[in-house]
Amino acid sequence: MIRTVVCLLLLFCIHGIKGQWVNDYHDDAVLDCRGNQLLSSIGSIHKNSYEDRLWKFQCRPAPGPVYDCDWTSYLNEFDQVLNFTCPRDYLINGMMSYFDNLYKDRRFLVKCCRVYPRSTTNCHFTAKFVNDWDKEMNFSMLVGECIKGVYSVHDNRKQDRRWKFNICNLV
Ligand SMILES: *[C@@H]1O[C@H](CO)[C@@H](O)[C@H](O)[C@H]1NC(C)=O
Ligand SMILES: *[C@@H]1O[C@H](CO)[C@@H](O)[C@H](O)[C@H]1NC(C)=O
Repeated sequence: MIRTVVCLLLLFCIHGIKGQWVNDYHDDAVLDCRGNQLLSSIGSIHKNSYEDRLWKFQCRPAPGPVYDCDWTSYLNEFDQVLNFTCPRDYLINGMMSYFDNLYKDRRFLVKCCRVYPRSTTNCHFTAKFVNDWDKEMNFSMLVGECIKGVYSVHDNRKQDRRWKFNICNLV
């Protein structure tokens, strides 16, 4: 009995470290780093039978207190381009979305925060998309990096989105 409980706890912890899927297909997805934590990786898989993605994420300790967090309003219409970068020294520390079965797409919003007393510099969008159509996304930031912006396009034949991230150094 105790063995089982310990194993379950261990399993949960291991999955927690790797990041569990935060949603089921067609359900709301909430990726949210809280406290003094910083978004450090985003993972996703696509399933054609659902024409949707599961999402997961990881956080790590931020190099200073995280403050002034605010969720945006929705950043894209269904099937349309999403192109958003947090202003000034804000960075993305969360992402939420909901699915629509008619469009087979999601609308997204993000949470922008600041990390005291840091600023974002040397920002650039990833040259390539970080995922292929219908394929896995596996994006991790190096220590000292953060995501400041997101860009994604939808394809109605693939019923999927490809993503680029605006990466900065947090100095
Ligand atoms: C995204 O929006 C920014 C302005 O906010 C613009 O400068 C940039 O060209 C846009 N990117 C694309 C690929 O359309
Ligand atoms: C994603 O990351 C996991 C763990 O690091 C790795 O096993 C897997 O091969 C990666 N997948 C891709 C498509 O890079």
